[in-house]
Amino acid sequence: MSALLDNDEANSLLRRKIMGYIVSQAIFAVTRADVVEHLGDDALPVEVIAAKAGVDRDALTRFLRVLVAEGLFTEEPRGSFAVTGLGSLLREETPGSLRHLATLMDNEAYQAWSAAEHSLRTGEAGFDKVFGKPMFDWHGERPAEAAAFDRAQAGLVTLRMLPLHEWDWSGVGSVVDVGGGNGTLVDGLLARHPRLRGTVFDQPHVVGPTTTSGRREAIGGDFFERVPPGGDVYVLAQILHDWDDADATRILRRVAEAMTPGSRLLILEQVVPDGAEPHPAKLLDLHMLVLLGGRERTETHWRELLGGAGFEICRVTGSSRSSLIEARVAR
Ligand SMILES: C[S@@+](CC[C@H](N)C(=O)[O-])C[C@H]1O[C@@H](n2cnc3c(N)ncnc32)[C@H](O)[C@@H]1O
Repeated sequence: MSALLDNDEANSLLRRKIMGYIVSQAIFAVTRADVVEHLGDDALPVEVIAAKAGVDRDALTRFLRVLVAEGLFTEEPRGSFAVTGLGSLLREETPGSLRHLATLMDNEAYQAWSAAEHSLRTGEAGFDKVFGKPMFDWHGERPAEAAAFDRAQAGLVTLRMLPLHEWDWSGVGSVVDVGGGNGTLVDGLLARHPRLRGTVFDQPHVVGPTTTSGRREAIGGDFFERVPPGGDVYVLAQILHDWDDADATRILRRVAEAMTPGSRLLILEQVVPDGAEPHPAKLLDLHMLVLLGGRERTETHWRELLGGAGFEICRVTGSSRSSLIEARVAR
């Protein structure tokens, strides 16, 4: 006991973890105030940054002091601050930008975390307890919040779809992106593959009325009811992690019904490693629980889930940030 009392290292480590959300909130606040954008590439005096961003000078100095310690900014002589490479990832135009991730972890998602204990005790979404209904239903009634969510998801698609660029699209005539949001992923594929036709399928309030424009079609519907049939490739990008196994199986069965014998299913998710190491997928797994009652899955879990819905996995590729699970209907 006294050994622990005297252990400054253990005490500081746990303190930092307990107070970790202060760092997240500081990042959200400076992101909302566009501090990194206002700062540009050169060091600026804090009063100039404060004036450009419309924030309080003293408060900004204190927020930046925390974020200097976290490596997002440097403090230059005479009260000036500059953005580091890490901090520049909060800029939308930086390749690999995480600005949209900050948006997705902020706002209603952050509020849902106030019911984390409810999720722990029940295995259910904290979001529903805080907001009175599931997140996608809540978004259905709030166009502004839904549009912000769709924009933020779309902002991460460039990174998310990297494993799709390694995939062999030769001979593929059509792709259906199930739960494809505002169509950023399909647009990215159509731009790279001039003979490909693409369908974006999502909730009617997300895609709007059914439209066809050139090689791109947008269809509104419910993936628990029916998925547009006949595609050569079906994509499920960050969809199945929103749902528990029973609902994920229902979605997979609707996709299987829509597929032809030669169709392929490409799932973009993050696979949870089996080991004890820290991994973003382990954090995202809890986030999916609190937000939606969903989950991230290990490769073993993916094989069980897909097998139970009548699929077999052909291969798993990609990186630790975005894995591509290729599957087909089992013969
Ligand atoms: C986490 S977002 C992923 C969006 C996109 N695939 C991406 O990678 O950015 C989940 C998507 O599922 C859609 N969705 C939720 N419930 C749905 C339903 N019942 N039918 C069709 N789409 C649904 C949402 O509107 C949202 O666009």
